[in-house]
Amino acid sequence: MESFDPVTPQGLTISNLFVLELVISGLLLGLVIIWLGVALVRFRARPGDAAEPPQVDGNRLLEIIWTVTPALVLAVVFVFVVQTIRTVDAAVPGAEPLRVVGHQWWWEYDYPNAQVVAANELHVPVGAPLQISLESVDVIHSFHVPQFGWMQDTVPGKANRMSVLVNRPGLYDGACNQFCGAQHAWMRIRVIAETVDQFNAWVQQQSQPAAPTGSRGEQVFLQNTCVSCHAIRGLQATAAVGPDLTHLGSRTTLGTGVVDNTPANLQQWIRDAQSLKPGVLMPAFQNLSPADLSVLVDYLEGLK
Ligand code: CUA
Repeated sequence: MESFDPVTPQGLTISNLFVLELVISGLLLGLVIIWLGVALVRFRARPGDAAEPPQVDGNRLLEIIWTVTPALVLAVVFVFVVQTIRTVDAAVPGAEPLRVVGHQWWWEYDYPNAQVVAANELHVPVGAPLQISLESVDVIHSFHVPQFGWMQDTVPGKANRMSVLVNRPGLYDGACNQFCGAQHAWMRIRVIAETVDQFNAWVQQQSQPAAPTGSRGEQVFLQNTCVSCHAIRGLQATAAVGPDLTHLGSRTTLGTGVVDNTPANLQQWIRDAQSLKPGVLMPAFQNLSPADLSVLVDYLEGLK
């Protein structure tokens, strides 16, 4: 039912069109059922009937009526559909750009003006428009947050556009809506819609690079193959295959929603991510010593 409670003006337009079409279809269905009922009663076979009732085969007037009426209904619906598409696709001037990049199986959220690269949890400001560019690095995914009101595919080699203005604070769940491989079901979206002040504070915090500390945990991270896939801004770790970990500790889930972000779950994720999310590109680090694993987890969870 979330699609009927949109939090964007674009979604509201779509929801209104759906209700209008439901009413028109309902009226037509009612009309057909009534006519059918009347015909069944009025023209039923009675004792003593010798022949069929009079037939309407070849009645020009009737044929014109039942051809023109549906054509008119479709023409009216067509006008409303085009109006809705224009409203939904309209670019909003002054909108903040946001790149949403689909990966097997996680989401990258890139705020190019703010130098922020986040993953899986999408922070959006309430009342400020966003111009989303939907992209993919591998296969086709689909970005679907039901309360936004509609979905859009992310297609490799092509950027789709989506203008979104969220007008109510809250948490809105979504998911990838195009089958994209083994863990399609664990490609969740969590939208955190917050006031512009809260959003700006989040951006300010997320744009900070990590301060190099030289800690043992940081060394474990840099000396292992973690750096082949993950970035931590501020360190010599700039790979972009997996999620940016500069602020990993500030996220609420791991593995794109598979488990809560707790130290115990992060330990298991690093030791054997396959046990939590079979097929995930994250390799197992089973030969890390327990002591190294523990300091690494402490270090990563400390990246707020
Ligand atoms: Cu990505 Cu389904």
